[in-house]
Amino acid sequence: MKVLVTRDILEEALAIVGASAEMEVWREPYPIPREVLLEKVADKVGLLCMLTDRIDDEVLARGANLRVVSQMAVGYDNIDVAACARYGVPVGNTPGVLTETTADTAFALLLATARRMNESERFLRAGLWKMWDPTLLLGRDVHHATIGIIGMGRIGYEMARRAYGFQMHILYTGNRPNEEAERNFEAQRVELATLLNQSDFVSVHTPLNGQTRHLLGAEQFAQMKPTAILVNTARGAIVDQKALYIALNEGVIGGAGLDVFEREPLPMDDPLLTLPNVVLVPHIGSASIATRNNMAVLAAKNLIAGIQGKPLLHQVLPA
Ligand code: DGY
Repeated sequence: MKVLVTRDILEEALAIVGASAEMEVWREPYPIPREVLLEKVADKVGLLCMLTDRIDDEVLARGANLRVVSQMAVGYDNIDVAACARYGVPVGNTPGVLTETTADTAFALLLATARRMNESERFLRAGLWKMWDPTLLLGRDVHHATIGIIGMGRIGYEMARRAYGFQMHILYTGNRPNEEAERNFEAQRVELATLLNQSDFVSVHTPLNGQTRHLLGAEQFAQMKPTAILVNTARGAIVDQKALYIALNEGVIGGAGLDVFEREPLPMDDPLLTLPNVVLVPHIGSASIATRNNMAVLAAKNLIAGIQGKPLLHQVLPA
């Protein structure tokens, strides 16, 4: 049974795949080119893919023998899940194992942006630090501030836990109440407009789909406090990035900590790079050694279950 792994993943996961299948691994340090994917998928029964691979009708038509698509990520907006269902191909993903690591990244971005960490480091490294100064690089307090969490799923919940530890007041939006978050962290479910209007920090933790694309744009930024800081570790396209640049540049909001972008990698001429009040990192939300290993192992197990016709450990269902 031949399978394709579209990036070089950690050894433990490759060993799981290799023990039950004949595996081909794309080992270059960049995503597998589209035409290579289309060619290589033709004789495979399993595909272990990344969020950088677009899996759509064309791939499924070429991969006529596919029995499973196993994504090494929790997000799956790169996969046409409905098309996979039409082809009878189950889709696996890797929720749970990256929850806390991603919440750590979101909270790190929140702190770094609020307290101007990156700007301060650039200042120091440039040799501009001459003396202690009572007004140097003043930031915003995180403790006791109000945070608005958009999407109280697994990662949103862990973000709330961290925020509660900083004695923050927690607002959230979600399709349904999260009673645990309300009980454990005194979180309050509100409408998006209220969240935007009352929060000092807004952190995005919702999947990207038809309903959430450009959920935050010029109109929403105008509802936020001029000092508010936006944190996004979910997907870039949930935020209208052009509108975000304008809002940051014109002082409509105070700052942003971003791990994800509408176009990745972020082009080096993107105007966001010119702003001092943003902290930008390259989609590293889940990038700890242990978590990336756990994600790879879970994706490998989903792959093997799929090619053996067994239920996946985590299967994405079509909307
Ligand atoms: C995901 O899993 O969706 C992240 O974006 C990568 O960890």
